[in-house]
This record gives sequence, structure tokens and C-alpha cells, in this order.
Amino acid sequence: MILTVGNTKGGVGKTTLALNIAIARALAGKNVWLIDADIQDTAKTAIAARAEEGIEPTIAFAKYPEANILRDQVRHQAERFDDVVIDVGGRDTSALRAAIFLSDVLLVPFEPRTFEVWAMADIAKIIAEARVMRDGLVAYAVVNCGDNSVKSTDNKDAAEAVAEFPELSLLPTIIHNRKCFANEGGKGMSALEAKRKDKKAIDELNGLMAHLYPVS
Ligand SMILES: Nc1ncnc2c1ncn2[C@@H]1O[C@H](COP(=O)(O)OP(=O)(O)OP(=O)(O)O)[C@@H](O)[C@H]1O
Ligand SMILES: [Mg+2]
Repeated sequence: MILTVGNTKGGVGKTTLALNIAIARALAGKNVWLIDADIQDTAKTAIAARAEEGIEPTIAFAKYPEANILRDQVRHQAERFDDVVIDVGGRDTSALRAAIFLSDVLLVPFEPRTFEVWAMADIAKIIAEARVMRDGLVAYAVVNCGDNSVKSTDNKDAAEAVAEFPELSLLPTIIHNRKCFANEGGKGMSALEAKRKDKKAIDELNGLMAHLYPVS
């Protein structure tokens, strides 16, 4: 399966989730290819940190921020892998559109804040345009960096606002704001690999994985 983690909005956790998803699949025994399609080097730096520490499993990695090279390489090489995970930058770029076009599933992380919800209209429009050319694209939205306060209704309010966009299905899993995701991500590691286990983070990630990869 080819999965893109994308949103035209920056800083919503695309790289963090792409890394966690790719590593979770590798830990499940899958042959995974993580592609960084962003001109920024965030995923590349994380994978370099992982390699530096010699952490297993090694994640096959490539960086193709140019849409035409991304398209050619994915078409040429994707079948060698069980899973391809593409992390794209937070703008409307031709690489984002190429990645969506190549993908079976698009995962759109968003933070439960007003501007982020407004920005959902942009990615919803891109999804609708992609579907004109490409049948069967599945698109999910997921709350990332969800508010941890019990009293806050932000997660629920944002989820309700996003449910208004018919182009995307909102996943019931909420990935909360947890230090574990930020700390481990900086080391090129998934929450599943943290020395100090954060059970809630692990449960959230496993919940997300169960929705994205229901059969295996
Ligand atoms: N669930 C989370 N809990 C805590 N921190 C998080 C979580 N998700 C992401 N972060 C942190 O938020 C920041 C932005 O995340 P990330 O770089 O993954 O976003 P992005 O969408 O890839 O950004 P860009 O648009 O710049 O590529 C990082 O510092 C990351 O560690
Ligand atoms: Mg990123």
C-alpha cells in the first residue's frame, strides 16, 4: 500500500506520523520504504539519527522533493516493498499532488485549532481534484497534537468541523500532544521504541495503525 501523509498546512505532525507509521510497519515485519518528498530535511535528519545509533530495523529511505522524480521512482520501485510511506511538505506543491496521485491512502493530520480546520478546505479541494483523475483514493483526517485537558472541547469541536468535509473520513483515533512523539521523533524513533514506554502514546499509534492497515 502506498500511503501519503500530507496537508497543505505546515507543522501539523506529518513527518512525525510518517516516521511512526513507517517504523510501526517495519516492526510488524513489513518491508517498508519511507520517502521524504519535502524540500526540508526533517525526515532525512531523523533517519540519519536512527542510522547513527544503529537502531534496528533499518528503514529504507529516499528523498524526492521533485514531483517528476518522485513519480518515476515510486512507479519503478514501489512493488519491491510491502509498504510505501510518503511524507510531503506543508504547502500546495506539485510533489504533494504527485504523491496523492500515486497513493492508495492519504492521511491528513491536523491540530484541533481554528486555523488548521480552515486550512482543511484547501486539502479537501486537492483531494476532489485528484479524484477526477484517479479513482479509489481513500482520504482520512486524524487529529494530531490533540489537547490533553479533560475539560477542553477543542478535539471534539475540531472533529465536528472537519466532519463537514465529505472528501475526507475522520478517523476516531486521536493522537494527543505527547512528549514521547516529539522526543522519539527527534531520534528517528517511533513511540513504540521508546525506552521509557508511554502506554497512551503506544495505544494511540496502534489504534491509528489498525485503521490504516486493517487486514495485516
Ligand atoms: N503528537 C505529538 N505530540 C507532541 N509533539 C508533536 C506531535 N506531533 C508532532 N509533534 C511535534 O510538532 C512539531 C511539528 O511536527 P512535524 O515536523 O512532524 O510536522 P510537519 O507537519 O511534518 O511539519 P512541516 O510542515 O514543517 O513538514 C515537531 O516539533 C514535532 O516533534
Ligand atoms: Mg515535515
